[in-house]
Amino acid sequence: MEVFTSVQSLRTFLNLQISIQNSIGLVPTMGALHEGHLSLIEKSNFENDVTVCSVFVNPTQFNNPEDLLKYPRTLDKDLDMLDKAGCSAVFAPSVEEMYPEQPALQFNFGSLENVMEGSSRPGHFNGVGIVVSKFFNLIKPHRAYFGQKDLQQVAIIRRLIIDLSFDIELIVCPTVREKEGLAMSSRNTRLSKEERELAPQIHQILKLAKSELINGTSVDQVIKLATKEFAMAKAFTLDYFQVVNVKTLQSIEQIGHEGTNAICVAAFLGPVRLIDNLVF
Ligand code: PAJ
Repeated sequence: MEVFTSVQSLRTFLNLQISIQNSIGLVPTMGALHEGHLSLIEKSNFENDVTVCSVFVNPTQFNNPEDLLKYPRTLDKDLDMLDKAGCSAVFAPSVEEMYPEQPALQFNFGSLENVMEGSSRPGHFNGVGIVVSKFFNLIKPHRAYFGQKDLQQVAIIRRLIIDLSFDIELIVCPTVREKEGLAMSSRNTRLSKEERELAPQIHQILKLAKSELINGTSVDQVIKLATKEFAMAKAFTLDYFQVVNVKTLQSIEQIGHEGTNAICVAAFLGPVRLIDNLVF
């Protein structure tokens, strides 16, 4: 596995791959890798000749400086995991390498970003849009792999690819979960032992909500029910619980046909903010 920290060395590697007509899969990450990230690498390995994984804690997508500071950085361990997973190349640039100048360009994804994560974290998707566009332009992958765990991010990237005519296939990978259902996340390591034991309730409440919706309970009633469940599980502070259309991310009053509905949740467990969703 090759590791690049400079754009120039990465370009030399990529030019060689293109000259021998190798297909390129890109897996963008912020490191602190877990099985969820590795599932993206595995899928990319399967579908491409070369997999490039970027490991970059992107400052422009953090609206909270403390969150940026606290974000776990475990590059040596990440490189070891990526090597074992069969990743071909890692791009782990410094902040100066990615942002030689403060970007002036700003993304506004309109109704896609005014909801859920976007409304809780102003400016977050602008930062995601900027860094992912940079990776797309630098690496020019044939396919790019993103996790359904970050459902709103997927909707934003889909928009980015269409609006800017990137010739890239977006591949959405299912959420990898711990045995008890907790969605894997780099943030899970910040949970105390007690919080970690309570955390799987998020997925349980999502599953309960899904079965109620499928059985005909109204969206309104289900949101009330789920809100009550979170209130009863005292350790949680619910940020949002929404039933939305999976592409537009707008709230729906009634569920639509299979595959178009998503239940999305964000909740604090102690100081840690966790998100999850179910698409059905
Ligand atoms: P990060 O949080 O490191 O996630 C990298 C990718 O892994 C994302 O596409 C995310 O959805 C996916 N992922 C995370 N947990 C997962 C899980 N349990 N199952 C499946 N996939 C999972 O998302 C980002 O980084 C950044 O915003 C980034 C796109 C890299 C831009 O900076």
